[in-house]
Amino acid sequence: MFTDLETTFEYLCARLEHVSPRAELYLQSERIVAIERLKKERNAVVLGHNYMEPALYQTVCDFKGDSLQLARLSAETDADVIVFCGVRFMAETAKILNPTKTVLVPSERAGCSLAASITAQDVRDLRARYPGVPVVTYVNTYADVKAESDICCTSSNALKVIESLNCDRILFLPDEYFARNVARASSKEFIIATRDPASLLKKEDSIEKVLIGWPGKCEVHERFTVDDILGVRKQFPDVIILAHPECSPEVVMASNFSGSTSEMIRFVKEQEAANYLLLTECSMADNIIAENPEKDLLRLCSIRCPHMAQITLEMTQKALELNRYAIEVPEDIRLRAKRAIDRMLEIR
Ligand code: 13P
Ligand code: SF4
Repeated sequence: MFTDLETTFEYLCARLEHVSPRAELYLQSERIVAIERLKKERNAVVLGHNYMEPALYQTVCDFKGDSLQLARLSAETDADVIVFCGVRFMAETAKILNPTKTVLVPSERAGCSLAASITAQDVRDLRARYPGVPVVTYVNTYADVKAESDICCTSSNALKVIESLNCDRILFLPDEYFARNVARASSKEFIIATRDPASLLKKEDSIEKVLIGWPGKCEVHERFTVDDILGVRKQFPDVIILAHPECSPEVVMASNFSGSTSEMIRFVKEQEAANYLLLTECSMADNIIAENPEKDLLRLCSIRCPHMAQITLEMTQKALELNRYAIEVPEDIRLRAKRAIDRMLEIR
């Protein structure tokens, strides 16, 4: 569809003129046409997370979605090259599921504060402190941490994953707020473990149904507050507020809906209301507006994920031209991490 510069430019102007100036859209159109040519030459597919900037998200992404959808899609493609327009842990998941394919992430700096918050040694230490307690790790972790886990989960399947274990005590790592939200929804108590082995053993001992969490935080979602919500509701009393479950439980409880990025997009599409506020990465609101021009999303967002923001059309073009940055996962780690991911993917 985006093989011709003129029609690509027209398409971008129609969808994104309210977001970017025409001169920038023209430059982006040139890059889009170049990326489409490179995709054909290399038999490549582009997967794009819902947080991608609008010009990239609306054009070169062959598949778009939340972490779970993209993990499933990456397991199904027959392309030789997967360019993962998202952050490193997502590209790693694609590589774990596709060891013989080239998997590229367009920036070396696309990390994640949650993935950086815990190490494989931390998980081994927790297992030693809580013998026999199953370990669930959020997909926002690196391959070596997944390799120490029993099963992975994402923001869209965490409850089903917990239920599948049928256990009273579960280690749920590493996002503290997400774990608190899941504990509330699954009628379990929550306690937090730390690197200090003396932490909270006594309290944990007295609780029957419990999620044992870790103090990891998303550096984007931890910044939303209940005061933000109250301020917006005062100004726009009928606003519908959506919060990602990486926000604090107080923020989630003060919102109208909480779900994965794709669940939030679906919710806005299906509702009749006029005004929405998304408490998540800013680009998502721009992408929803581009696809649903009749909806009024309050553009009060000022928090971009610095890691997702590394991924641009320019970097994506360079990734295909220079074959960078190729993801590699040592085979012993890959096989163990794959077990935890496969077990999650089996749950429908
Ligand atoms: P989703 O799985 O909901 O897309 O979330 C990924 C993420 O990193 C949110 O910050
Ligand atoms: Fe990680 Fe938060 Fe960025 Fe998502 S928004 S990739 S959880 S830092």
